[in-house]
Formats: sequence, C-alpha cells, structure tokens
Amino acid sequence: MFVIFPNPQAIADYLAKYITQKIIANPATSLGLATGSTMEPIYARLLQKVHTDQLDLSQLTTFNLDEYVGLGPDHPQSYYYFMQQHLFAAAGLTPAQVNLPCGVCADLEQECQDYAAKLKALGGVDIQLLGIGSNGHIGFNEPGTPFDSVTHVVELAPKTRRDNARFFDHVDDVPTHAITMGIAEILAAKEIFLVATGRHKAEIMARLYSSAIDEQLPASALKQHAHLRILVDAEAAELLPTHIKQVV
Ligand code: F6R
Repeated sequence: MFVIFPNPQAIADYLAKYITQKIIANPATSLGLATGSTMEPIYARLLQKVHTDQLDLSQLTTFNLDEYVGLGPDHPQSYYYFMQQHLFAAAGLTPAQVNLPCGVCADLEQECQDYAAKLKALGGVDIQLLGIGSNGHIGFNEPGTPFDSVTHVVELAPKTRRDNARFFDHVDDVPTHAITMGIAEILAAKEIFLVATGRHKAEIMARLYSSAIDEQLPASALKQHAHLRILVDAEAAELLPTHIKQVV
C-alpha cells in the first residue's frame, strides 16, 4: 500500500508517466484532482509529459475535490485559480471539461446536490489524486466526517485554517467554510493515489500506517479501497517502520 520514493520529483515522474499511459489507453479518462503544495510538482511534470507525448486531452474530464466558500474563480487563492495556473490553462482544458464546486453560488446546498449528481452519473472518477492534511483530512473532509458523506459544505478545522494561512496575508483571511466532495464519492474512484511529501507529513503518515479504519482519521477510510496506493517521499516516510521503507 505504501510506496516510498526518494523525493517529490520522483513521485511526480511516476504519476505523470502513469496518468499519461492511462490517457493514451483511454482518452475519455476522468481524473479526480486536488490542489495544494503536494500537487504542484505533479502537475508541472504532467504538463511536460502531455507536451512531449503530444497527448490528446480533448476527451479528458476532471473533477476537483473542493473549493473555498466565498472565493470566486478570479480570486488568487481560490482552487479554480490554482488549477488554471498549474494545469488547466497550459493543458488547454476547456471549461466544459473541468469541474469544481462553485464557492460563490447563492444556493450552496443546491450546488452540493448538483456536484454530487454529476459524480453519481459518472460512477466515480477513473483516477483520484489526493493530498492529506496534517490532521488526516482528504479533500476538506475533516476528522469526524461520516464515511458515507457526499458533496457538502464543511466548516474548516482551526488546524486546517492555520496550515493554509501560508497562502494568505493573515489566518483570519482564510475562509471558514468550503465545499468538498464527500468520502463516499472519493471511495467511488476506480484507483486512488494518496501523496504525502515533506517532513511535516511524517507524523500523519505514521498515524495513518498504524491506524484502524476510524472516522477520526478521514484518510483511514481509503484503507478499504481495493486500488489504493500511498506514495510517500523519504522525508514523509521518516517515521514509518523500517521494513516498508523500500525506495522505488
Ligand atoms: C486540496 C485538498 C486538501 C490538500 C491537503 C494537503 O484540494 O483536497 O486535502 O490535499 O490539505 O495540502 P498540501 O498539499 O498543501 O499540504
């Protein structure tokens, strides 16, 4: 389940190659996407690969995990903006191909239902990329979120707001709420890659390794999935037991 790589770039190389091969085999692949620092080298490498392999992305569909409530697509800290900057624009993906929850819609409950309906119609994405919060969140499913949850509005945990304050001028500027895909929808993916890089993810990786499946640790829900791979760099693997520390 855990695969250890020497550094974040090696994970990015592996995933970019893997996703490229999947898209070549099935141009109508659906990708579940995350934002955040962990994803940046992955999207950079994927873009290089897309261009060198002259990959046809015209049939690709993407679904993002989450969006801040109150931040529109033009806000530099919105997740739509992040995706435009790091992947969508350079990959030439059109608005019709990409899906993100709308954080500024007047009726957020309706937006959740519409997003959940789109995911249900798809029957789960083909490949889901996930990062992990230092409290074990996946998407913005904070500790205590039921594992049968679907897209919903969530109040962000104080720890998550502190962790994400690095992208804002002040912690008070971090939105208090977000829309997130639910855990049931994440688990509906055919394949899941959870990625953790950096020393600041070592504690949560050790906790995830030893934890039972427990709603207080949202990422532990993934242990039920038949096609889960947890890709960890050497720093994030620092507190994992030595016998699983084979480096790819
Ligand atoms: C973001 C998301 C979050 C992040 C997690 C890790 O779309 O779903 O679960 O993956 O907070 O963020 P980074 O990669 O910035 O450490």
